[in-house]
Amino acid sequence: MNPILPPFPHTRLRRMRRSAALRDLAQEHRLSVKDMIWPIFITDVAGADVEVPSMPGVFRRTLDGAVKAAEEAAKLGIPAICLFPYTDPAVKTEACEEAWNPDNITNRVIRAIKKEVPEIAIMTDIALDPYNANGHDGLVRDGVILNDETVECLVRMGLAQAEAGADILGPSDMMDGRIGALRSALEGAGHADVTILSYAAKYASAFYGPFRDAVGATGALKGDKKTYQMNPGNSDEAIRLVARDLAEGADMVMVKPGMPYLDICRRVKEQFGVPTYAYQVSGEYAMIMAAVKNGWLDHDKVMLESLMSFRRAGCDGVLTYFAPQAARLLAEG
Ligand code: PBG
Repeated sequence: MNPILPPFPHTRLRRMRRSAALRDLAQEHRLSVKDMIWPIFITDVAGADVEVPSMPGVFRRTLDGAVKAAEEAAKLGIPAICLFPYTDPAVKTEACEEAWNPDNITNRVIRAIKKEVPEIAIMTDIALDPYNANGHDGLVRDGVILNDETVECLVRMGLAQAEAGADILGPSDMMDGRIGALRSALEGAGHADVTILSYAAKYASAFYGPFRDAVGATGALKGDKKTYQMNPGNSDEAIRLVARDLAEGADMVMVKPGMPYLDICRRVKEQFGVPTYAYQVSGEYAMIMAAVKNGWLDHDKVMLESLMSFRRAGCDGVLTYFAPQAARLLAEG
């Protein structure tokens, strides 16, 4: 037998897993409430807050309900919320004018929250779908999504949100050129400090189903979004989109959906080293909650493990419907 090299390995990785204390010391990534953005559905339809059937625990909130949610988020230490409107079908048109109405539900909620809960950052969504009679993110003529005309509308929409007090604009429409157009318009209108979190790599995904129920776009949408959202078979294209959006003036970028696209998160973070977010979308939430409701998965453990996957993949933060539940659990240690 060799006296210098014993027959058994010196490298025993199990040594550092022996106790909770050693596991803590060896842990590479940690979850923090400070890395979460909480998406909230708001509605201009009068009444009480209503639960979204395909998203148990998630509500469409009235203006008052939204302010209460912002207060709750601030108490829990969540740094930002993101607003998504469910608009009365009566205000949806093919020209989507309600999108840049200074008094639309989003802008009213922004102003109310800024007044009552000034410490929370407000992110918005820029896309025409909540206001579009045909459910698309862009203007439609003869069945074709019009890029440049849509960008003009998106700029008006973003300026109205900035004017109302939004801190982070989130263009989720996937039109070409919208980041540059929006950035120039913000500079020109005295809103140079407003940040843009670009939905840079947004895939044409079936995981958005419950969201479209939540914002009332399911019935309205004619066809699909494949001429503007990305093909799930592509990865290099995500890199080109992120490079383009950064060059046009985005401050942060997003990959969406989240869990099925962690490889994209990793590539984006490694290549660009910029603030990189993932959106754990409605379908991912619904999938976990459905299994939890059946007693097949443990809610708390699966939620935290799913959120950890984003940190491990290199994301700086995550948009997640689990934000308040996760914040409460993390606070309990
Ligand atoms: C709208 C938008 C969508 C989501 C965020 N913004 C839906 C879509 O593109 O059809 C999806 C979010 C989710 O599923 O949680 N442009």
